[in-house]
Amino acid sequence: MSRYHPILVVFHWLLAIMIIIGLVMGGSVLSETPNSAPEKLFFLKMHMSAGMIILILMVVRLVIRFSTKKPPHADIGNTLLNKLGVTTHYLFYLIIILMGVSGIAIANLAGLPDIVFGGSGAALPATFDELPPRTAHGVLSIILKLLIAGHIAAFIYHQFIRKDSLFSRMWFGKRT
Ligand code: HEM
Repeated sequence: MSRYHPILVVFHWLLAIMIIIGLVMGGSVLSETPNSAPEKLFFLKMHMSAGMIILILMVVRLVIRFSTKKPPHADIGNTLLNKLGVTTHYLFYLIIILMGVSGIAIANLAGLPDIVFGGSGAALPATFDELPPRTAHGVLSIILKLLIAGHIAAFIYHQFIRKDSLFSRMWFGKRT
């Protein structure tokens, strides 16, 4: 099997775009807006909705990943780098799912479902900073950014230095 299933390819790129937007907007807009600002509710609504969709798509992708034929793990002749590649992929799943779960935990502890989606009219807490899942969500977002940077570095290495076109496995084409 030379390529991933086309559904997995679609999910990969859709999730990549959504996650990068979630990281950028979460870190630069949402968390920089004080909870007292009138626009905060709208930003939370957008972020929480997108985050939930990411979590659901991620779980669906994981199920498809384990029920379709996929290419063998890459072998570049270095045991350590081979293992690093495999581990990074599993870490991606784990960290993204933990991001979703910690986000839901912040939301529940802060009563956000009623305030943001239920229109309860209650005020937001002054800050989310003292909630432990908020700390986890922030740390996980840094780990996720590092993983993405490593993933892009691996792409550049395979595409332009080794020139083995490994990453074409995550694109459409004939699956031999
Ligand atoms: C899985 C995808 C998600 C990504 C990539 C993501 C990303 C982020 C980032 C980067 C931040 C700012 C972190 C910081 O600056 O310390 C943040 C904050 C936050 N996220 Fe998420 N998030 C995701 C899912 C969720 C979900 C599912 C929820 C809730 C249902 C949620 C609720 C929140 C809340 C309440 C904050 C705090 C905002 C503040 O401090 O004002 N997130 N998220």
